[in-house]
Amino acid sequence: MTSLGSLPLRDDLRGRSPYGAPVIDVPVRLNVNENAFAVPADVTAALQTRIADVAASLNRYPDREFTGLRTQLAGYLTDVLSREGAADVAIDPSMIWAANGSNEVLFHILQAFGGPGRTVLGFTPSYSMHPLITQSTGARWAEVPRGEDYAITADAARTAIRQHDPDVVFLCTPNNPTGNRTPLDVIEAVCDAAGGIVIVDEAYAEFAGPDFRTALSLLPGRPRLVVSRTMSKAFAFAGARVGYAAADPALIDGLRLVRMPYHLSSLTQAAAEAALQHPGSLLAGVRELAQQRDAIVDRLRALGFDVVESDANFVLFSGVADPALLWQRLVDRGVLIRDVGIPGSLRVNAGTPEETTAFLTAVEDILSAHPDTLGRSSQ
Ligand SMILES: Cc1ncc(COP(=O)(O)O)c(C=O)c1O
Repeated sequence: MTSLGSLPLRDDLRGRSPYGAPVIDVPVRLNVNENAFAVPADVTAALQTRIADVAASLNRYPDREFTGLRTQLAGYLTDVLSREGAADVAIDPSMIWAANGSNEVLFHILQAFGGPGRTVLGFTPSYSMHPLITQSTGARWAEVPRGEDYAITADAARTAIRQHDPDVVFLCTPNNPTGNRTPLDVIEAVCDAAGGIVIVDEAYAEFAGPDFRTALSLLPGRPRLVVSRTMSKAFAFAGARVGYAAADPALIDGLRLVRMPYHLSSLTQAAAEAALQHPGSLLAGVRELAQQRDAIVDRLRALGFDVVESDANFVLFSGVADPALLWQRLVDRGVLIRDVGIPGSLRVNAGTPEETTAFLTAVEDILSAHPDTLGRSSQ
């Protein structure tokens, strides 16, 4: 059999591992930050109608500029800003980009502004795809550890930027896998200090508390800032693969240089447009998931774990003596969570009330059978 090593693979890809959260068929899957709720019935009905409408014209290429979708996404983000009290900031369709998941949006940004000979900076632990996407474009990944409670301070960010002089900086807020947010003043400080592109990955923004402020309000006057979001999480639309970003129209023009022609299929555009016409029901699960998240935080704390305050649909908890062992014991009880490789820690998604209860009950059972599951020494 041919091995990959025997093929003329790019030298910088040799020895690398692909992204791969373990896929295990268990009843309760709380491992990849999905939305636990199914797509609501009014959305599936609207979807079926729109898909039927475009089916006969699939002989034609899609709208390369996905104009309808960009207009709807701009409207959604303008509403977000106005709810946050930033009604003076409007997002115009010319400021919007979309692709097959925000991973592809990030890939386009890195293809246009990263690439060979360039440096991309991240504050870790953070989303594991940021370095993989960076390296796939041939850019160098530089990382700086976050401080206490996984926070990034303006001073630490400035020092890191001085040290690495990055072409692109990644910020992720709320951050995956820790769940905490980065305040706007720190994002502003990063924009001021960095000479390159600043990406603020807000994949989980809708799950954040009411005092969360999106970096979208910082866009006016900052042509190197780009804020990425996704329909995969709060919108319960991960399977449709729709991510998007907002930035100065000039930055968006840079993305047009690297995307494949017609990268968003007619089916994807139709599905996303239909879904965005029902934001109320699509986002209905968000409040419930935030409640489940808070219930997980409270219960895990009561059981003796350390838990990071979370603005996302997942919780990182530590104080686990042997994360791999607890992970396996949960799998044995039909519950799949995520070992993200942070010593003494595991990450779990907020699920439906039934899934959350199944997870917490399993943890309680394991703790009573194995009190040594808790152990601070390994942190
Ligand atoms: C922080 C962050 N950004 C981006 C993504 C990519 O999501 P998608 O490609 O489904 O939009 C994820 C997915 O887990 C994520 O956690």
